[in-house]
Amino acid sequence: MNQQVKDPDAPFGHEYGPYITDVFAPVLDEETHTDLPVTGEIPQDLNGVYLRNGPNPRHEPKGDYHPFDGDGMLHSAHFDQGRLVIRNRWVRTEAWQREHEAGRSEYWGIRQTLKGREDQPLKDSANTDVIGHAGVAIANWYLAGVPYALDPISLETLGPRRGYLDAMGSGMSAHCKVDEATGELMYFDYGDQFPYMWYGVVDSAGNLVHRVPIELPGNRLPHDMAITEHYSILHDHPVFHDEGARAAGRHKVVFNSEMPSRLGVIPRRGDAASIRWFEFTGAFIYHVVNAWEEDDEIVMVACRYMPARQSDGSFDDARTAKMITRLMMDARLWQYRMNLTTGECREKCLDPDHNVEFPSYDAGKTGRYTQFAYLVDHDPNTLRWWGVCKYDTDTGTRLSAWTDDAAHCWYSEPWFAPADDQYDEDRGYVIAFVWNDRAKTQELQIFDAKDLNKGPLARVHMPHRIPPGFHACWMSADQIGSSAP
Ligand SMILES: [Fe+2]
Repeated sequence: MNQQVKDPDAPFGHEYGPYITDVFAPVLDEETHTDLPVTGEIPQDLNGVYLRNGPNPRHEPKGDYHPFDGDGMLHSAHFDQGRLVIRNRWVRTEAWQREHEAGRSEYWGIRQTLKGREDQPLKDSANTDVIGHAGVAIANWYLAGVPYALDPISLETLGPRRGYLDAMGSGMSAHCKVDEATGELMYFDYGDQFPYMWYGVVDSAGNLVHRVPIELPGNRLPHDMAITEHYSILHDHPVFHDEGARAAGRHKVVFNSEMPSRLGVIPRRGDAASIRWFEFTGAFIYHVVNAWEEDDEIVMVACRYMPARQSDGSFDDARTAKMITRLMMDARLWQYRMNLTTGECREKCLDPDHNVEFPSYDAGKTGRYTQFAYLVDHDPNTLRWWGVCKYDTDTGTRLSAWTDDAAHCWYSEPWFAPADDQYDEDRGYVIAFVWNDRAKTQELQIFDAKDLNKGPLARVHMPHRIPPGFHACWMSADQIGSSAP
C-alpha cells in the first residue's frame, strides 16, 4: 500500500495541531525491508519479534488531532538466526475498514467528542498496547475496546477476538497481562457506568473463563494492572471524570490528592467479594513494571506520577490533571508492598532523581520476582523518550543507561528479549527504535541487556522514520504461532 504524499512531515497540513506533523507525522506506506545495512552485528541467539504499537492516522482528521486518535499501526523487527525483517502494517480494525471504504475520516477525535459531541463514538483504534498471547499478537486500546489479533510475523490482522469478551458492549483495556507459565491472560475493562470496572481471565486457548464486576466508588481512569502467581492487582487512583462538569455538558478530568490510591488484590479467579483493597498515598500510575509474591506480601513496582506543586509546596491538583491528560509525564520508580496477613501497606520511592517511564522486563517472569527493569528517560514536556536505562528494582540502583544524543533522540519503548541460552534474568538484549531529529536518521538499536553503557551492539540503519508511539512487546520464536486459537 503506497500513497503519494506531498509533504511527509505534514501529510495533512499544519492545521490539526502539533502531534500530526514533523516527528509525529504518520507514515502512509506499509513496507517490508530486508538486508538493511548494519553497524555492528545482529546476535545469532536473538530469535523472535519485537513489536511496537502506536497511533498513525490514515486519513485527514475532522478536527484537532490528539495522539489518542490515530489508527493503530504495528512496527516490527523479526529476528531469525541473524537475519532481520522490518515491517509496518496498520491494524485493520472495524473502524479502519469503515474509513477505508469511505476513503476519509468517519470519526471525530477525542478533542471534539469531549467538547460538544459527547454522543459520538470514539474510534476503537487498537493503537495503544500489544502483547503476545496464544501464538498471536493482541493489539489493545486504552479506553477498553475489542482486542485485535495479528500474525506477529506478517502483521496481517487476523480479526477481532470477541471470544475474549463476554457480551456486546464489553471491552478489554490496554495492559492486560499474560502469565507465560500458564498461558492465561488477565485483563480489566472500565467505563463510566456502575460498577465502573470488570476483571477477566482468558485461558491459553483464547476462551474467556472468568469475568467479575469490580465495584469502584465512582468512575475512574485506570491505565494498568498487575498480576502475581495467584492474584491480580487492580488500580483505583484518584483520577476521574468530574460528574458535575459532565452534567453541565463539559468534560473535565480531575486529580484529587486528598483521596487515596487503592490497589485491589483479587485471587486470579476470585469472585467479586474476594477482592481486598489496600490504601496508599493518592497518586496516579500509568504503568506497572511487574509484581510478585514474597511470603505474605504482594510486591508491585511501578512508575508513579509526581503530583505538580504550587510555589508554596502545596499540591496543584488541577495542573496534575492537565499533565496526565496531556501525557506530560513526570514519574519515578516506586515500590508498593501489601501484607495479606496483617493488612499493612508500605510504599517507597526507589529513585527520586530520574523521570523514567514505559517500563519493560523479562516478560517470561510476569507475576514472578524480577530484579531488573528497562525503561525510558522521559522528557517531561512532551512524548519524547530521550534514552534507555536499566534498574535494579530491589535497590533502586540505576545500573546503566544510553542515549546517542539526549536533545534529539526519540526512543521507542524498549523491550527485553531473552537470548536463546538465557541462563540468568538479564542474559539477553534490549531492543528499541530510535529517531534522531537532527541527523534525520532512523535506527533499530540492539543492546546487551547486562550493560547498556556499552552502547548498541548493533545499529540497523532504516530507510524510513518511525513516529513516536506507545507500547511494545517481545515474542520469542517459540511463542509465535504456537497455539493460535
Ligand atoms: Fe500505557
